[in-house]
Amino acid sequence: MEITNTISALQMLLSPLQKAKSKVALVPTMGALHKGHLSLIKIAQQYADVVVCSIFVNPTQFTDPKDLEKYPRPLEHDIKMLQEAGCNFVFMPTVKEMYPTFPTPEDWHIDLGAAEFLLEGEFRKGHYQGVTQIVKKLFDAVNPDIAFFGQKDFQQVLMIKNMVKHFNMPIEIVSCPIIRENDGLAMSSRNIHLSQNDRENALVLSKALQFVADNFNKLSNDELLGKAKLMINETNGVELDYFTIADGETLLATTNKEVKNTIALVAAKVGETRLIDNMLLN
Ligand code: PAF
Repeated sequence: MEITNTISALQMLLSPLQKAKSKVALVPTMGALHKGHLSLIKIAQQYADVVVCSIFVNPTQFTDPKDLEKYPRPLEHDIKMLQEAGCNFVFMPTVKEMYPTFPTPEDWHIDLGAAEFLLEGEFRKGHYQGVTQIVKKLFDAVNPDIAFFGQKDFQQVLMIKNMVKHFNMPIEIVSCPIIRENDGLAMSSRNIHLSQNDRENALVLSKALQFVADNFNKLSNDELLGKAKLMINETNGVELDYFTIADGETLLATTNKEVKNTIALVAAKVGETRLIDNMLLN
């Protein structure tokens, strides 16, 4: 496994492979890797000849500087995990490499559609501009044929697909299933911040989603939302930001059971940690 910190070094390594028509996959991450990330690497290996994993804690997507500061960065552990997973290249650029004028912001604003401002977009203003800005830079650096993202950040995958359409990039975007702990908690780099008490309380999120999924064909969406929100609001230490049943294309709330790609999405603060989760319903 080769580790590089600069775009030019990465491109020197990749270009002979790309000239020889090897299919290159990119798995962009912010590190603090867990089994969810490893599942992306495994899936990528099935689709491509070469897998590049990027590790970069992207400052432009954080709306809260404290959140950026406390984002976990266990680099040695991450590298060991990627090595064991058989990843071919790790790209770990510095902030200056990706944003040469940092901390002066670069001009970046693209139209990601109305869904940018819903759900996470409402709670983390500008978040998806930052995410798509760095993903575009990573795509330009790696020039992958295909890229893999976790479905846990469902709205993020939608925004990245919209960014790829915006620039007409010939890159396939694949959304990969959420990996859960045995008790249902969605794996996340942020789980490390949960106290034992928070960890138990956090289970209500996947339980509420599972309740909605199990009863989707039996109850109206209003009844499902009522019960799911009650479950969460009755749990001490959990502060709900949103729980919605939405059209997976527009992220607009829907009561129409016929809509294909319906999804339940939740975000809540558990103790001091903000978690998101979702479940496809049909
Ligand atoms: O999902 C993440 O880890 C990040 O948002 C991403 C896609 C790597 C961009 O920084």
